[in-house]
Amino acid sequence: MEQREKALVTGASSGIGKETARLLAEKGFKVIAVARRKERLEELARENPNIEPKPLDLSNSETLEEFCQELLHAPEPVNVLINNAGFSIRGVLEDVPLASIRALFEVNLFALIRVTQACLPGMRRQRKGTIVNLSSIVGKFPFPTSGPYAATKHAVEAISDALRHEVRPFGIRVVTIRPGVIATEFNEKANQLTGDLFSRTDPDYKPFYQAYGAGMAKLFSNVTIPGPELIANLILKVVLSDSPRAVYAAGPFVDELLEQRLHLTDDEFFELMAEKTGLKGLRL
Ligand SMILES: NC(=O)c1ccc[n+]([C@@H]2O[C@H](COP(=O)([O-])OP(=O)(O)OC[C@H]3O[C@@H](n4cnc5c(N)ncnc54)[C@H](OP(=O)(O)O)[C@@H]3O)[C@@H](O)[C@H]2O)c1
Repeated sequence: MEQREKALVTGASSGIGKETARLLAEKGFKVIAVARRKERLEELARENPNIEPKPLDLSNSETLEEFCQELLHAPEPVNVLINNAGFSIRGVLEDVPLASIRALFEVNLFALIRVTQACLPGMRRQRKGTIVNLSSIVGKFPFPTSGPYAATKHAVEAISDALRHEVRPFGIRVVTIRPGVIATEFNEKANQLTGDLFSRTDPDYKPFYQAYGAGMAKLFSNVTIPGPELIANLILKVVLSDSPRAVYAAGPFVDELLEQRLHLTDDEFFELMAEKTGLKGLRL
């Protein structure tokens, strides 16, 4: 690296973001590590002095804006932005409170947009920069019971696709990453936030949840779930590449579902998903 570049990684207290912050710091980037859990960030910073902890709740519009103003007025611009912070909640649409869906969009989409807006002026001044947005395989198709989460990732895809055109003339690269299922705290947190849906859903939906649960158990039965290093290494490769592609995908279900989604008709894919998720013959 000719000069010491500055990277910003959101969601750096665990999983993919933590591994990415580590790898970038090892490569010599000065890394601003954002997440709510301060102790986790401080522990990470003790591993490598290139990491600067920045405890922040991205869902709080006031603190988010303060941080964005800091970014806008910082003497050294962010050269590499990894928009990674995100979470999920589950349930059939009738079971998910609108407030929970709004909270999901605040972090997975609106904070991503605002932080990006705050980094772009510095990148434009330098006529270079890399923005990596964490989508998901569900950025292209939803699983039943996670429509709102998939909606945030579909929105991330759309924002990324438009932005890629808008900023390429300034030498800024926008790359979308679509992980399959990855072993992090993500799943456990989604379960915690969702709570026991089965006990509070309408009795009408109970057989649905049962069939879907059995279908998903079967779908996952032969799957080896990789750790976050798979995606962190991919992100590092993107950042260091002279000419990264627009989109990368890695992990389970990329070939089995994402590739199918990109090639089948809507009706064909709907039937494939019904079969894969155990819902094909279900009539209630
Ligand atoms: N794991 C998967 O299977 C998978 C698959 C596809 C895509 N993804 C995407 O990959 C990204 C990383 O997920 P992961 O698997 O690494 O999950 P994770 O281990 O749960 O990490 C999520 C990170 O986001 C941060 N975060 C959540 N809410 C926040 C808030 N309000 N303010 C600031 N930071 C917040 C968390 O930090 P704090 O809790 O400390 O705030 C944590 O550092 C997410 O965008 C996710 O949607 C994951």
